[in-house]
Amino acid sequence: MKKSILITGGAGFIGSHVVKLFVEKYPNYQIVNLDALTYAGNLENLREIEGASNYKFVKADIQDSKSLEKIFNTYQISDVIHLAAESHVDRSITDPLAFVMTNVIGTVNLLNVAKAAWKENYHDHLFYHVSTDEVYGSLHDDSYFLETTAYDPQSPYSASKASSDHFVRAYANTYKMRTVVSNCSNNYGPNHFPEKLIPLCINNIKNNKPLPIYGKGENVRDWLYVKDHARAIDTVFHKGKAGETYNIGGFNEWKNIDIVRLLCKKMDEKLGREPGTSEQLITFVKDRAGHDLRYAIDATKIQKELGWEPSLQFEEGIEITIDWYLANEEWLKNVTTGAYQDYYEQHYTS
Ligand code: NAD
Ligand code: TYD
Repeated sequence: MKKSILITGGAGFIGSHVVKLFVEKYPNYQIVNLDALTYAGNLENLREIEGASNYKFVKADIQDSKSLEKIFNTYQISDVIHLAAESHVDRSITDPLAFVMTNVIGTVNLLNVAKAAWKENYHDHLFYHVSTDEVYGSLHDDSYFLETTAYDPQSPYSASKASSDHFVRAYANTYKMRTVVSNCSNNYGPNHFPEKLIPLCINNIKNNKPLPIYGKGENVRDWLYVKDHARAIDTVFHKGKAGETYNIGGFNEWKNIDIVRLLCKKMDEKLGREPGTSEQLITFVKDRAGHDLRYAIDATKIQKELGWEPSLQFEEGIEITIDWYLANEEWLKNVTTGAYQDYYEQHYTS
């Protein structure tokens, strides 16, 4: 069936993998990528598919309802996969309001425009909201986050995502909009902005810069390869039940310090350095304010009901990731110098 899908945040880390997957796998779908191109949006992530006939890029902010209305009208949008967000916890600590504006107000704005465009007749329409496991809070025992776990967000980022999740479910309950929400664990892989732990460390090891570990490095995250998340989003979009929530995770928990040591070991091998050289860059720094101790997803529901599971083992995924960063020096250079922000002017405006 022909669909016209609006993917928001498609120039970001996860969004760009979702856009590429959908454009390549579904030639009869029209994919409209809406992105405001904040510091986290990088059109170079989409080079491979930017000329595809079923792909359109529109620069717009989800807070701007006039632009959204125009996009829904022009492209007759049938479905939404919503990823646009402010996504970095440290930035949310210094500027919480930016997270409220995009993650909460922007999401409600998008819901309102979709509701009006679809004329409250949702039969053939789906609003898919992509969210995070961080809404469940911080684990201090050996339990896991289930879809039924009560929300307990602890950072301004997770509070804003929790709020947007609640709004999406409220629109399903109140207006009978067909919605689905998925909550995923930490992603890693190519095109990850180097302010996040794994790409930051890869970049710093390469450049012999300190590796800042917050606190004692004892915090635990459950890591999933980004293309496996994109595959899960494809699965939930096509097979998920409206009104449901699906947790997505890697069954792959690591303490931060162990992950950084692994990166050091692998990069010593790849860069031909003496074993132990890069570990000397590890620097323990002041802990993040309100730092969540452990996240861990129980992804049994999506596995059993929709047949999705991660395809890559972590050792394999991290090898691919390091190799990608070493092979894509220009991408990394453009991101770290800010040159990537000129791409839109160079390629999309005449
Ligand atoms: P990202 O920061 O890499 O990308 C976000 C994208 O949204 C960027 O391209 C940015 O330009 C765009 N954007 C920001 N504000 C916008 C606005 N007001 N209007 C339009 N576009 C805007 O984020 P990511 O890591 O790719 O995360 C994508 C989504 O997945 C987010 O909703 C995030 O909460 C969720 N998520 C992320 C992770 C993770 O590990 N990165 C895990 C689970 C869920
Ligand atoms: P991050 O990649 O920012 O993701 P999130 O906070 O959404 O989980 O951080 C992953 C973990 O690494 C988190 O426990 C914070 C920690 N961290 C550091 O120790 N040093 C760093 O420089 C960064 C960016 C993160």
